[in-house]
Order: sequence, then structure tokens, then C-alpha cells
Amino acid sequence: MKTVLSGIQPSGQLTLGNYIGAMKNFVRLQDDHQCYFMVVDLHAITVPQEPAQLREQSEAVAALFIAAGINPEKSNVFLQSHVPQHAELGWLMTTLTNMGELERMTQFKDKAAGKESVGAGLFVYPSLMAADILLYNADLVPVGEDQKQHLELTRDLAGRFNHRYGEYFTVPEPYIPEVGARIMSLDDASKKMSKSNPNPGSYIALLDDPKIISKKISRATTDSGSEVRYDPAGKPEISNLMGIYSQCTGLSLQEVQDRFEGQMYGAFKKELGEALVATLEPIQQRYRDIRESGEIGRILAQSSERAREAAEFTLTAVKERMGFLPRL
Ligand code: TYM
Repeated sequence: MKTVLSGIQPSGQLTLGNYIGAMKNFVRLQDDHQCYFMVVDLHAITVPQEPAQLREQSEAVAALFIAAGINPEKSNVFLQSHVPQHAELGWLMTTLTNMGELERMTQFKDKAAGKESVGAGLFVYPSLMAADILLYNADLVPVGEDQKQHLELTRDLAGRFNHRYGEYFTVPEPYIPEVGARIMSLDDASKKMSKSNPNPGSYIALLDDPKIISKKISRATTDSGSEVRYDPAGKPEISNLMGIYSQCTGLSLQEVQDRFEGQMYGAFKKELGEALVATLEPIQQRYRDIRESGEIGRILAQSSERAREAAEFTLTAVKERMGFLPRL
């Protein structure tokens, strides 16, 4: 059975982009893969986090994984910080990474742009992400488009290690959906939808109230035309909304276009709002049930125990190959 690993940062509200670009595929892959789905709290602290908020968000993201349909009996759902081997392999991977490779990372450039001082953790973040993936010898990594470059670096580091110390790591493949890999912002279709955008109208949070969801969609920016036609270059805003509709309903983009032929944007947006609410409301209900049940702690403990075992196996083998004297 192939191994799947992915992670989501607990740094603010999860958005529809996280759901469509990543989580939805986690659920799809869990039936026929050995899965590790992580709340990457060690990654979140590469920008300052308020401790109480980090704790709350970490539990919230874990609960959302399960609410979205990840079955903790089948998949491992855990916090990165509960498996200390991530930090240790992260350091080993950092020493294999070149400065130039990290300087080329567009996510780093975006996050560092205009800042007076930038934490070193933000810079070496991709080496830790490589460690996350290689620690379980993952074959497949379901992510959105924005993580592609980090995945390429992971592949290079795996290859470099194998070349220097002998074949050991699996070189992982990204699993990026064809539609929905890059959900764009509702107020500006040239930017990706992001939880760090200061304008809450620019994104749908997975826990947004249904009324707010409909309102945000009705206010989403569109061009001055009226035709519901899929044309990402010419009509990026409507095309983005059509992609979201397609992901919520399972209809193809062509079917979405046919369905709204001759209708105005207003009618389309109304139905899109309803489709989104129909998708997110059951997730929200399950989320509340899980939080109230107090089960999360137990689930995280069980999964992280399994993850630690797999991680320790890899780390021991890696350290031996690199020449560390074994601990007796
Ligand atoms: P993060 O927390 O920024 O996002 C989590 C996942 O959501 C996807 N995503 C999107 N997909 C489509 N449209 C969007 N607008 C959108 N916004 C976010 C991201 O591509 C991602 O898949 N570095 C990672 C976390 C990470 C990780 C890993 C992922 C750490 N270690 C190991 C995979 C494997 C990140 O910051 O994701």
C-alpha cells in the first residue's frame, strides 16, 4: 500500500482553499493508502503566534480534518510537535539544503517581502517540510498548487541524500488536483484565497456562518459582463467561482457552464452560495460534535504514537547512514 502524507498549518482560520486544494483529497485518498495527516504547528511558529491561539487553532484544525471526513481509525491525524523526530530530521535536512535553493522559494519571497526582519525559521521552513514527507517515505503528497515548489525541493533533497549516503528515501510525487488547486481570492482573482488576508470578505472560512457565506459570495468581485463562461484568462473571477461550484457539486466545468447558460451572475451566485452552504454545513455540524465530545485528545494521542514509531524507524536508519554513532 502506498503512503500519503500532508499537513496544514494551524495559523488562523482554515479556508475553502485549504478544503478544496487539500483536505478533500485527503479524504479521497484514505481508503487505499496508508495516510498521515498532520497539523503542522512547528511550521506555524515560523511567524509569531499567540500561545493560547496556537493551542486553540491546533485542536480546531485536527477537529476539522475529522469533520471533513478523515476517519481516524484508518488515517493518522496528529500534531507535528507530538512527533519530535520531525524537528530532528528537519535539522538533518537543513544541513543538506543550499542557501540558494531556499532563496529561490517564492513562498519565502512573498512572506518576507517588505518586512524589516524575517525569522530564520521562515527561511529554512522548506527543509522541515521535506523532513515531514521523507520521515514516512511518503509516495504521494496531496497539496494545492502553491506547495509545488516545496515538493520539488523535497524531491531534490531525497535524491541528494540517496546519492550521498545510499538509496534510502522514496522520492515523493505531488498530488495536485486539476480543478481547485488554486482557489483565488473573492476580491481579487489574481491572488490566491488565503487565511492571512486581512480582508475577511476575500475568503470563505470553513466555519463561516451560512448567512455570511451567501453574503460573501454575493459580494464577490466579478467582471462587468454577464455571461457565466469558463475562461480563466479573460474572466478570472467568474472562472474561479465556477471552479468552486464544480468542486461543491461534482459537476464538470462544462456542465456548470451549460447549466447557467443565459442566466445572469446574480442567479449563479445565489446557487453557488447554496451549494457552498450544502457542502460546509454538515462539516460544521460534525466539527461542533467532535469538539464537544472531547475526543480529539485521545485521537491525537493514538495517532501520534503510531507516527512516532514509524518516524523513529526512519530517523535511526538515516542517522546510521550519515555516520552518527548509535546510542546504546
Ligand atoms: P498551508 O497550511 O498554507 O495550506 C494547507 C494546504 O491547503 C492548500 N491551499 C490551497 N489550495 C488551493 N487554493 C488555495 N487558495 C489554497 N490555499 C492553501 C495548500 O496548498 C496546502 O496543501 N507548507 C504547507 C504545510 C506543510 C505540508 C508539509 C504540506 C508542512 N509540511 C508536508 C504537505 C506535506 C503549508 O503551509 O500549507
